[in-house]
Amino acid sequence: MREITITTLIKECREDELNPTDRELAEAAKEATRTAYAPYSQFHVGAAILMENGEICTGSNQENAAYPSGLCAERTAAFHASATHPGMRMRKIAIAAWTAAGKPEGLPYADYFQEMPISPCGGCRQALLEYEARDGEIEVILYGSSKIYIFPSIASLLPFCFTSF
Ligand code: THU
Repeated sequence: MREITITTLIKECREDELNPTDRELAEAAKEATRTAYAPYSQFHVGAAILMENGEICTGSNQENAAYPSGLCAERTAAFHASATHPGMRMRKIAIAAWTAAGKPEGLPYADYFQEMPISPCGGCRQALLEYEARDGEIEVILYGSSKIYIFPSIASLLPFCFTSF
C-alpha cells in the first residue's frame, strides 16, 4: 500500500512583521469585530476579504435566538463580497476575534483580542472553497495578538476537500 503525506507550509509572524497590505486587512478584520451581533456567545469575530480590485469586504458573526440560524463572520464576509462583487476573485481573508466573557470592565475591545489565532469552522472553509475553486487561491491570515498564522489557501485548511460532483 502506498502512503500519501499532505503537508502545508504555514507562515507565523507578529503583527508588526506583516506587509502593509496584510496589516491593513488584519486591521479591517479587527475593526469588523465591532459589528458582531453575539449576545449568546459573547464571542465577537470579524473577517475581512481583499478583493481582486483592491476593495475590502467585511463581515462579522450574526447570532440568532434560534442558534443554527446565525452565521459566522467568515461566511457573512464571503457572501457579502460575492453579493456585492459577483464573479470577482477574493485574494485574501483575515480573521480576528475577542470575547466579551470575562473582559474587565472599561478595557477597550482593541486590547482584548484573542492571543492565539482563531481558525474558521468547517462550514466556512467549505463555503470559501467554492470561490477559491472558481477563481484561484485565497490566502488566509489568522490574527492573534501574540502570533499570526498565514495559510496559502482555503484548500490547505481543508485537505481532501469536496469541490464538485
Ligand atoms: N464564529 C465565527 O464567526 N467564526 C469562527 O471561525 C468560529 C466561530 C462565531 C459563531 C458564533 O457566533 C460564535 O463565534 C461562537 O461560536
